[in-house]
Amino acid sequence: MRLIFLGPPGVGKGTQAERLSAQRRIPKISTGDILREAVQKKTSLGVQAKSFIDGGKLVPDAVVIGIIRERMKEADSKEGFILDGFPRTVPQAQALISMLLQDQRSIDRVLNFELADDELIRRLTGRRSCPNCQAVYHLEYNPPKKPELCDRCSGKLIQRSDDQPETIRKRLEVYRSQTWPLVRFYEEQGVLRRIDGSGTPEEVYARLTAAIG
Ligand code: AP5
Repeated sequence: MRLIFLGPPGVGKGTQAERLSAQRRIPKISTGDILREAVQKKTSLGVQAKSFIDGGKLVPDAVVIGIIRERMKEADSKEGFILDGFPRTVPQAQALISMLLQDQRSIDRVLNFELADDELIRRLTGRRSCPNCQAVYHLEYNPPKKPELCDRCSGKLIQRSDDQPETIRKRLEVYRSQTWPLVRFYEEQGVLRRIDGSGTPEEVYARLTAAIG
């Protein structure tokens, strides 16, 4: 199964992709995770990407398309994948089509998660993550057992640099202008399904699995 998770920042794409990936045994490929790891390790990609991420802007298309092209060559993506946060622009979506066509493959479903802005902001400002094992928490909705420490590996939880109010506003703006057109793009191809992102993670997951069958 080849899936794309689309939706605004903080809607819960990563949370749902993590669950589905574990249940269906297909990799979750997140450009955000790949870029943050590169920033953490201070690789040349990370140095290049940092100012875009911290400013709430998109990393240039050529860079992220290159990341996905390389990642798609790995054996684990041959049986399927969940793309979380890619594509985010029409040129990225077009590049993905050509990449998959080379292996006679295509996307089965695009899941567009939807949620009201006030709740998106609440989810983003309350998010805390573990830089060691990438576990994601929320101060109110999914708090760690011990304050500021990861339940899994006891790492010290951090707030993402782009989860500051000003950057969140910018990310939402960028989402509307550059990523929203993809909803129409995939609707026209007949592969788009809309998912109500409100409610508990379990409720959203039930809607997701119903939509992909
Ligand atoms: P990326 O990491 O992709 O960020 P995003 O799309 O903005 O999405 P988020 O990770 O913020 O949110 P999410 O929807 O995954 O929500 P989550 O599950 O964590 O991108 C970051 C940056 O990298 C971009 O701004 C850009 O600079 C760059 N980038 C990445 N991809 C790129 C691309 N293709 N092109 C160019 N640049 C790119 O949930 C959020 C919080 O809510 C968590 O605390 C979680 O615990 C909680 N939560 C989740 N679900 C629920 C629920 N149902 N109820 C209550 N709480 C919930």
